[in-house]
Parts: sequence; C-alpha cells; structure tokens
Amino acid sequence: MSDAHHLVPAEQPQGTSALSTVQVSVRLYGEEHSFSMRPDEHILYAAIAAGLDAPHSCLSGYCATCRAKLLEGRVRMEINDALTDEEVAANYILTCQALPLTDRIVVDYDQ
Ligand code: FES
Repeated sequence: MSDAHHLVPAEQPQGTSALSTVQVSVRLYGEEHSFSMRPDEHILYAAIAAGLDAPHSCLSGYCATCRAKLLEGRVRMEINDALTDEEVAANYILTCQALPLTDRIVVDYDQ
C-alpha cells in the first residue's frame, strides 16, 4: 500500500521554474481579456503582445502608468520606484516590472 508513494516525484520544483505557461485574465477599459504567457515575460509586455492597449509610459518602474490591481496570483516586481507601501499592500503592481510567480494571474487596470 505504501508503495504508492514511490509514484510521487520526490521533488516538485517551486517558484517560477516550475511554471511553463501562465494563464492571465486582464480587466481593461471595462472588458475582460484572457491570454497565456511565459513566466519569464513581464505582464505588460504579454498583454501588449496579446493585442491589448494596456497603458504604459516609462517601462522602467517609475511612472506608475502601467499600474494595475492584482486580484489573483502572485508576482515579483523587479523595480518599484512608483508605488507607495500602501499601494503595494493593497496589491497594486507595476505590470511593466511584474513577473508571474503563479500559474494564474488576474489583474485589473480599471481599479
Ligand atoms: S510604465 Fe512606468 S512604471 Fe510601468
């Protein structure tokens, strides 16, 4: 009976390296959009590649034009020179700097 445990892989990689594809839902200008992206892409660039007119300006993490609220999932921001601690605590992200850490991400540009 306990032999079944041998069928379970001993190590399940965690974090971004475990992700192959990320499913993303985006609310933008009152509409919902869904697309998939690679975990090593920034969410903004993936949204633009998916045909969305996602707001952006500096692309460097300091203007907050690309700000969106993360409703589901987790991300890692490479640079954040724009959001206050309060905004970060409220789950706002800079999508130009955000790399997904979970295989499902929901962001809302309208909030
Ligand atoms: S576009 Fe300026 S912070 Fe993202």
